[in-house]
Amino acid sequence: MAVIDVKVPDIGDFKDVAVIELLVKPGDRVAVDQSLITVESDKASMEIPSSHAGVVKELKVQLGDKVSEGSVVLTLEAEGAAAAAVPEPAPAPVAAPAVAAPVATAVPAPAPAPTPVVAPVPTVAPAAAPSPVAPHQPASAPVLGLPHASPSVRKFARELGVPLAEVKGSGPKGRITLEDVQAFTKAVMAGTLQTQAQAAQAPAPAAGTGVGLDLLPWPKVDFAKFGPIERKELGRIKKISGANLMRNAVMIPAVTNHDDADITELEAFRVQLNKEHEKSGIKVTMLAFLIKACVAALKKFPEFNSSLDGDALIYKHYWHIGFAADTPNGLVVPVIKNADQKGILQISQEMADLAKKAREGKLGPADMSGATFTISSLGGIGGRYFTPIINAPEVAILGVCKSQMEPKWDGKQFVPRLMLPLSLTWDHRVIDGAAAARFNAYLGQILADFRRVLL
Ligand code: COA
Repeated sequence: MAVIDVKVPDIGDFKDVAVIELLVKPGDRVAVDQSLITVESDKASMEIPSSHAGVVKELKVQLGDKVSEGSVVLTLEAEGAAAAAVPEPAPAPVAAPAVAAPVATAVPAPAPAPTPVVAPVPTVAPAAAPSPVAPHQPASAPVLGLPHASPSVRKFARELGVPLAEVKGSGPKGRITLEDVQAFTKAVMAGTLQTQAQAAQAPAPAAGTGVGLDLLPWPKVDFAKFGPIERKELGRIKKISGANLMRNAVMIPAVTNHDDADITELEAFRVQLNKEHEKSGIKVTMLAFLIKACVAALKKFPEFNSSLDGDALIYKHYWHIGFAADTPNGLVVPVIKNADQKGILQISQEMADLAKKAREGKLGPADMSGATFTISSLGGIGGRYFTPIINAPEVAILGVCKSQMEPKWDGKQFVPRLMLPLSLTWDHRVIDGAAAARFNAYLGQILADFRRVLL
């Protein structure tokens, strides 16, 4: 039986992160993708999965140790094919299904402003769609975002139905430990503590008593009384992203501007390009042009490429564009890095590669981090307009729907023009309505005459 080193895989921008939990011990049998340790930076915590199945021989890290990509976590007596064929550890999560990638979890950031973090999962809420998805990023406020706890503690709390937001953490930096969850449960059972849900049953406080949302409790309906039902757990991505979506929807004063761009000539050019490049295997889609056009607009209106940091704005001098991709496991947002330095063909190729990786569940955190602006395109599916939710800490997102041939008045007559519906959602703390209208108008000009990108 081969003894192998199991190492920390590609964990994006995380370096020298502290080990805060050991989830296995020598002698334990572990499966592929089973979480081995939890690591935590000041922005997020994540569990590091095993690249192989086998029996833990020796732990090579202790609580408090700092690890980075490539650090040896433990040695393992590998089982099965790995034992025979893989003397070296396999390069883990980036090449593993998304469900096996390191599970990063948001924790409250110490600063009041939202802070960028790992693997954003998408964002976008079509106006009439029931289940939008949100970016996977850290909470900036403990109550509205995710409380400070490792994924395994979170799971434990979920199983017990403990509302983590109400548990006081006794760990370092207020982190909630397993013991805190147990103590909370005991206190509720003993009747010495009331959860907020229980408190909500009590008479409501007098109107105008202050801040907070003072929301009604969630309606509790016995659906089975009205007809047959089936209960299905939400998928991993939806579970993780729900809290982020909630935070972004509640905390950002977001406004959406709708507009149309005339893409008649651009679409003809795209079709022509695809004919010319038929043999290369690269398919140019409208989204590649949109990415390039957005970069030009972001450069002209730099606040759209910024993030709030308390009372200041961080202007980013790089243009990384996220695009929402629909996958069997849910929505994810891979990122085209340095889109300003790439041509349409390269962007098309990268988008196709990332979208394929996304559908196969093989995106790693590095593929999904660092976006400065996001585009959500439903163009291949349909619809007219929708209201995307901003992928915090970004400050704007562009939603795109299906282009349609429409009659347009050219001053003398109606002419058929191909019109692309655009929906730009923006953070009103950073951007004003006039700037948003200018951004859309400029985007429309570029899409109508792509030579303007060169100006
Ligand atoms: N108007 C009209 N047609 C469009 C279009 C638009 N705005 N955008 C794309 N299309 C067409 C394409 O040309 C292509 O047509 P073809 O098959 O005849 O060549 C077809 O729609 C499919 O395009 P698609 O493969 O989806 O490419 P894309 O570059 O537009 O999109 C992804 C790539 C990864 C973004 C896309 O596959 C995806 O996942 N979209 C869903 C994103 C999402 O769910 N967002 C909302 C979140 S709530």
